Amino acid sequence: MVTRTSLVGRRTAQKFRQAAISAAGSLKIKLLLFCCFIFTLTLLANRAPSFLGCGQQSIPPLDRTSRKGYTLLINTWKRYDLLKQSISHYTSCPGLDSIHIVWSEPDPPSDSLVKFLNHIVKSNTKNDRYIELIFDINKEDSLNNRFKEIKNPMTDAVFSIDDDIIFPCSSVEFAFGVWQSAPDTMVGFVPRIHLINQLKENGNSYIYGGWWPVWWTGTYSMILSKASFFHIKYLHMYTNEMPASLLEYVKRNRNCEDIAMSFMVANATNAPPIWAKGNIFEIGSTGISSLGGHSKKRTECVNRFASLFGRMPLVPTNVKAIDSRGAWFW
Ligand SMILES: *[C@@H]1O[C@H](CO)[C@@H](O)[C@H](O)[C@H]1NC(C)=O
Repeated sequence: MVTRTSLVGRRTAQKFRQAAISAAGSLKIKLLLFCCFIFTLTLLANRAPSFLGCGQQSIPPLDRTSRKGYTLLINTWKRYDLLKQSISHYTSCPGLDSIHIVWSEPDPPSDSLVKFLNHIVKSNTKNDRYIELIFDINKEDSLNNRFKEIKNPMTDAVFSIDDDIIFPCSSVEFAFGVWQSAPDTMVGFVPRIHLINQLKENGNSYIYGGWWPVWWTGTYSMILSKASFFHIKYLHMYTNEMPASLLEYVKRNRNCEDIAMSFMVANATNAPPIWAKGNIFEIGSTGISSLGGHSKKRTECVNRFASLFGRMPLVPTNVKAIDSRGAWFW
């Protein structure tokens, strides 16, 4: 631009140059101001709590490691790789105090498996932290084993989990926090619903609703025990206070122990469970829930349990707990 204008005359060229320089200068200043503005915003955002409180306040840490944590109650069946993977993952979560492996296989766990798991637990626990690792060996193979009473539990909270799904520690600790606010309630990641059957064929008045109806209506009334927190007292209740006919039904049909647990807790609390948001990672191939006829069986369970309890204790709700740190826009 300057070379072209120099043909016209030196004075005009100089004017142009000066104008160009001052324009560039003011652009730079504007850019600089803009950068300062963004920088200040970032600073303020990072120090938001002290910013709001004029520098003399800070939020208390969300550290729960110094308090009583939870017991991992893991159900497994001849999938040692998944078991190793799960235990290895959950021992890295700060709130974990104890691991109970529900063992229902005819043979006891092999020495090498016990050794391997003990090694994982030890190498993942640092400083003066201690994690208990216990195999709960059962003589008979029954789905009720999953909720056998734990003798001398280390914690009030139980985190019940299947061996083929993994949740990141952040999700687990979040759900644990929700449970601490409502320790009588089941808190977990997999919601289900009982639907009312308008047609009433076969005398069924309820239908078991899986993932779709929950997604469609945003309503649920059960939290499955394959990924949930509940109070340790419910293991005692399930083992000792459930009607024998119900336990027999679960054992014989090899299904619905999780629905039974949901019924029992709902009957005791007269309140709905709480669905906590969490990221789910399936590490095994999908189990019986993907097979055909599964939801028909589940519907039978819901109706059977409703008649055993003498009423429908499940309470529907739309509440979902989410981590407010991830939801900045109110
Ligand atoms: C349901 O709750 C009632 C009232 O607490 C109790 O008496 C009853 O035993 C419970 N039923 C079952 C099947 O647990």
